[in-house]
Amino acid sequence: MKTIQGQNNKLVFAFPDKEIECFTTTNERINLMLEQANISIMGNNNRILLYFDSEEDAEELLAGGGFLLIVKGNDNEVDMGTVIVRSSPILGMTGLKLIIGQLPGLGASVSRTANGCRVTIGNKVVINGTTIYLQEDNSRVCIGDDSQISWGVDIWCTDAHTITDLDGNPINYAQSIEIGRHVWIGKDVKIGKNVRIADNSIVGWGSIVTKPFDEPNVIFAGIPTKIVKRGINWDRKCINKYVKGL
Ligand SMILES: CC(C)(COP(=O)(O)OP(=O)(O)OC[C@H]1O[C@@H](n2cnc3c(N)ncnc32)[C@H](O)[C@@H]1OP(=O)(O)O)[C@@H](O)C(=O)NCCC(=O)NCCS
Repeated sequence: MKTIQGQNNKLVFAFPDKEIECFTTTNERINLMLEQANISIMGNNNRILLYFDSEEDAEELLAGGGFLLIVKGNDNEVDMGTVIVRSSPILGMTGLKLIIGQLPGLGASVSRTANGCRVTIGNKVVINGTTIYLQEDNSRVCIGDDSQISWGVDIWCTDAHTITDLDGNPINYAQSIEIGRHVWIGKDVKIGKNVRIADNSIVGWGSIVTKPFDEPNVIFAGIPTKIVKRGINWDRKCINKYVKGL
């Protein structure tokens, strides 16, 4: 672990048969994983719950180098299901960066925190190279079960800077990003604040999604994203295998 600072923080690994409270465990295997993991928690009352099917899966995620978790602020919650993070330098994949509060590399003079945020990621979500970033208090990101997120993807529940009207009132608050169940986000997609994507949908590569879409089973594409096809579904297998029923 990189940094743990503050009080009443909780980091729990949940397995099918047990839950391990990471800050007090004497389990040597888990402690070794934690030493190798890129996890930083700075602040108070943050609660991080990561589900794994097995200790091997936990090892693969935490010691594999493709996972970064930073939580800077108070009263934040992360619930992450049995996510498969792929990280291969050959394919230029970068794993999962999940950041609440402060993006790395902002410089020593910049300090940002976010409080009361919640990130929920479902089960069997495949993530190749994605940055999920929350910067504003009480904002939410939710990704449904069985979704698939390609690489070069940004899911930013913030613009990072303030836009105001001419009286100086902020106009670009972030509230939430909700990605439904079984949604496929293509390569190099950017998803901004206050977006909803309904179940069984696809976002075509290179698209920028800027607003909520509530219709399920559609393909979105373009900048800004629009519905380009309705009445579709998708399967994780490549077509060769799909048609042979493999
Ligand atoms: C969206 C996608 C899946 C194509 O689906 P499809 O059902 O074959 O769609 P089509 O090619 O028939 O395109 C439908 C329309 O959307 C447009 N379109 C498709 N993808 C688009 C994109 N990424 N941006 C803008 N427009 C796009 C097409 O030009 C077409 O427009 P038209 O109706 O005006 O002719 C494909 O374009 C795509 O993004 N593939 C990459 C997926 C990926 O990122 N894989 C990485 C592994 S996770």
